[in-house]
Amino acid sequence: MGLPDTACVVYRLSQAAYRPLFETVWGQQAFDITWPHDVERICSTPAGAAVFGGSATPLHLTQVGRDRANATYDQYALSITAYERPADVSAFSSKFDAYLASTYTLTEHEQRGYELFLGKAQCNTCHLDGTENSQTRITAANAASLAPLFTDLTSANLGLPRNPQNPFYFQNVADAFGFTPNAAGPDFTDLGVGLFLRSASGTNATAQLRSVAQQAEAAQIIDGPTLESATDHSAILRWTTNTRGGPAVHYGAVQYGTDPQHLKQTAKSPNRWNTNLPYVRYRVRIDDLQPSTTYCYAVDIVRADGTSIGV
Ligand code: HEC
Repeated sequence: MGLPDTACVVYRLSQAAYRPLFETVWGQQAFDITWPHDVERICSTPAGAAVFGGSATPLHLTQVGRDRANATYDQYALSITAYERPADVSAFSSKFDAYLASTYTLTEHEQRGYELFLGKAQCNTCHLDGTENSQTRITAANAASLAPLFTDLTSANLGLPRNPQNPFYFQNVADAFGFTPNAAGPDFTDLGVGLFLRSASGTNATAQLRSVAQQAEAAQIIDGPTLESATDHSAILRWTTNTRGGPAVHYGAVQYGTDPQHLKQTAKSPNRWNTNLPYVRYRVRIDDLQPSTTYCYAVDIVRADGTSIGV
């Protein structure tokens, strides 16, 4: 949320439409806090702004006010936990859950992948899946948990290399609020938990693996985009990307408009990844242009529902 003080969360809750419900559950004392006159200004300034001088509690509250805000904050966290626990939010309805519940049989392919996960590759020594780490076939009958989270809730030092495409490595310049996310820039080394616990240098929390999907990498443009032809009312744009494989139909899309900040219109045309060719060529025709008008455009590759695959 970027709020500069946990008490700002409580302040925002005190203004919410559901405040009476919160008080019914947790008591009338929850928001019985005298807020300082500058509460709105402070809570509207993002965390890390230079004006706070590094303070994590820039809201000046009485000791009782601070204690109350801390208690209400914890109750807010408990409310979220209670909300997330039921099956309508945490359904545990994946294919793997069905497998653990003996209502689905893994295909040969899935079974081999799973055996690798808990056998030779030893993934489940950290990403606990409720079964033992062995190459024997595990069934629901001997699973320790039927709703595993695939994490041991500890941290491990994997020695992963930097990802230079992570924008954080370039955020070494102060923003409008005087906040510099990463003063070290590209030289930053992510010590994980070690950034605040000296004894745990380099360790990162074992990520849970639910809802992890294979994300195809964005294709790279290797030629264009260029204006292939244009009339007073239409234009054809052309560009070429490398191929990413797979038979799925997708679309070359051009977002265009007269204001570069708001490319409001979109034209698209279908395409197919062709694994026999090292490239894919896109040609998109735009039909509703006004004569003698300057247009700006951006090209993209999108799915049938319009969501971006990215270039
Ligand atoms: C030594 C413990 C350990 C083992 C063994 C391990 N992992 Fe991990 N895994 C981690 C940690 C720690 C992270 C988080 C790394 C980070 O944030 O830098 C992680 C992250 C991941 C992620 C990223 C999840 C996300 O949401 O971004 C995936 C996917 C993953 N592991 C899969 C695997 C697979 C598959 C194996 C077996 C080949 C495996 N892991 C073995 C500890 C482990």
